[in-house]
Amino acid sequence: MSRYTITTALPYANGPLHIGHLAGVYIPADVYARFLRRNKHDVLLIGGSDEHGIPITIRAKKEGITPQGVVDRYHELMKQTFIELGISYDNYSRTTAPIHIKTAQDFFLKLYHDGKFIEKETEQYFDEKAKEFLADRYIVGICPKCGNNNAYGDQCEKCGTTLSPDELINPHSMLSGEKPILKKTKHWYLSLNEYQDFISEWILKGHKKDWKPNVYGQVKSWLEEGLKPRAMTRDLDWGVPVPLKDEKGKVLYVWFDAPIGYISSTKEWAEREGKDWKPYWQDSSTKLVHFIAKDNIVFHCIIFPAMLKAHGDYILPDNVPANEFLNLENEKISTSRNWAVWAHEYLHDFPGKQDSLRYTLLANAPESKDNNFTWKDFQTKNNSELVGIFGNFINRVSVLINKYYEGIIPEVSENFHSHELDSLSKISAEISLYLSKYEFRNGLSSLMNLARLGNKFLQEQEPWKKVKEDPEKVKETLYVSAQIAAYLGELSEPFLPFTSKKIMEGLNLTYNSWKELEANKILLPSGSKINLIPLLFDKIDDKEIDYQIEKLENSKKQNENINNNYEAPKESINFDEFEKIDLRIGTILEAKKVEKADKLLQFKVDTGVDIRTIVSGIAESFSPEELVGKQVTVLLNLAPRKIRGIESQGMLLLTQRKDGKFSFITPDDDKIDNGSTVK
Ligand code: MF3
Ligand code: ZN
Repeated sequence: MSRYTITTALPYANGPLHIGHLAGVYIPADVYARFLRRNKHDVLLIGGSDEHGIPITIRAKKEGITPQGVVDRYHELMKQTFIELGISYDNYSRTTAPIHIKTAQDFFLKLYHDGKFIEKETEQYFDEKAKEFLADRYIVGICPKCGNNNAYGDQCEKCGTTLSPDELINPHSMLSGEKPILKKTKHWYLSLNEYQDFISEWILKGHKKDWKPNVYGQVKSWLEEGLKPRAMTRDLDWGVPVPLKDEKGKVLYVWFDAPIGYISSTKEWAEREGKDWKPYWQDSSTKLVHFIAKDNIVFHCIIFPAMLKAHGDYILPDNVPANEFLNLENEKISTSRNWAVWAHEYLHDFPGKQDSLRYTLLANAPESKDNNFTWKDFQTKNNSELVGIFGNFINRVSVLINKYYEGIIPEVSENFHSHELDSLSKISAEISLYLSKYEFRNGLSSLMNLARLGNKFLQEQEPWKKVKEDPEKVKETLYVSAQIAAYLGELSEPFLPFTSKKIMEGLNLTYNSWKELEANKILLPSGSKINLIPLLFDKIDDKEIDYQIEKLENSKKQNENINNNYEAPKESINFDEFEKIDLRIGTILEAKKVEKADKLLQFKVDTGVDIRTIVSGIAESFSPEELVGKQVTVLLNLAPRKIRGIESQGMLLLTQRKDGKFSFITPDDDKIDNGSTVK
């Protein structure tokens, strides 16, 4: 028996969970934990919500509520979702919990007092109006690569380029619209470069060759680039306060505090259960396994291990089985574009079908490359595989045994033997090997092969035909089938826990250790009594799937409306500057085309002050006749300019729509006196 501490990336509590989270991290971790428990290991599955960091404060600003309000809402929702999906956490905590604040601060102080940080003053972007230092995410501007008007200081979400704030064209603060300035500030850096050799020894030269190639490869390339010192503190007002007197307004870097959340969550569990948390983090025989997605690799394979090493009292991860990403209908899942299947909505729309989702997400788990979820595939997997194969087999076995033998497993001769029986231990060992190597898809496919084998066996034996003429044979057939059903009940538990439970209850069985399965134990000896098992799965019809696809199409339409890329806001001006602009309501008296200029219209406008000529490039949007008599807004004090030889004395205000056509800015009352000011 070994001790395992299994952690799952703490999801940001800034939105609900989607299928990408589930397929990449939470369902595989749960399968692994359940599998180890069945092997009688001492297993702790740890999770919690990541409640600090910029994603939270951005969400709060968007919704106009406090960061605490945001995390309270989403922490509860995520926790509930995990419970309903059967993610078997031993503890699910949150990083605003007092025990976490203390654990993270103590960790920081230990490193601080041991001289593990370098204190450094640097220049950072600062918003003078909002009086706040700006995280890169809070600086927006034009992307130098693709011209997107709303690129962030760390990344352009349109073209995917990684950016730094000084690369943005016309950068401005999201808080005030102000152009950020550089300002000096002090922070504490962990010199990752000093851990370069240690990480390199431990992962590259150590025994980590069995890590997944994507993980190993990313670490290698970070090391080749050379590790650099990284600030472990930030100037923000949301986070774990830096526990040093005289340091107001500074918090721990979210990637410093969040992984310590695994430790605090363990402590919370231990306090509640009256256990000792230390062996799970400090005993060198404990295996620490981090389940994460690929965007978290550097934090779990380099930064957190360096922190643990600097601290000195902790074990390092035994493995970090990071997954790639799951796409949805062949497109990248995106929270901001609402291109996602939200887990809580799934649970609402498909009550009782947790295992159908677990099954599909495991079968499509992005283990070695990005993978895809489509609703049609989900329907096929449910209807053809779960209903058609797995459910069908269990159903036939339970019905036939109840019908022919009143639910009693029939007698067979003492030395009865069959190759189907032999395959039970083989398949158990096979699944076990796959799971121990984090190959969940292969494990699941072996499980399905057992169900297929059972189905095929029944189909070939046709007990329903032979029950009269060859009753002894039929007894054997159903005896064997019952054993297969029992093994399916046992072996499906890590993958399909709800289904497994129904089978085990139906067969009046309690769980055995996986070792006993590998030793070919007969689970349902002759004479055991089984019940009629209710149908395990039911079909999902086209209507339900069409509804889901329609939902996605709607969010696509909405995005097209939202994403029409409005121009970036300009630099702010003060009121005096605005006051210089003289805007008036006027009426168009005459309108005609300018000769040999396709785009220009020439107007005579009564501005109330005078009657003047104005030229405007809007001929493609209007015919002159329709404009006579129209009230418009005029920029009165624009210096006159010659356009095609005509002096234009002012400007008419218009807005340009997405299709390129112009519309006038016209008062919404019928008749306004010409010359009325606009302010
Ligand atoms: N919240 C992070 C994310 O969603 C993951 C944090 S993992 C932890 O990417 F180790 F920091 F907890
Ligand atoms: Zn771009």
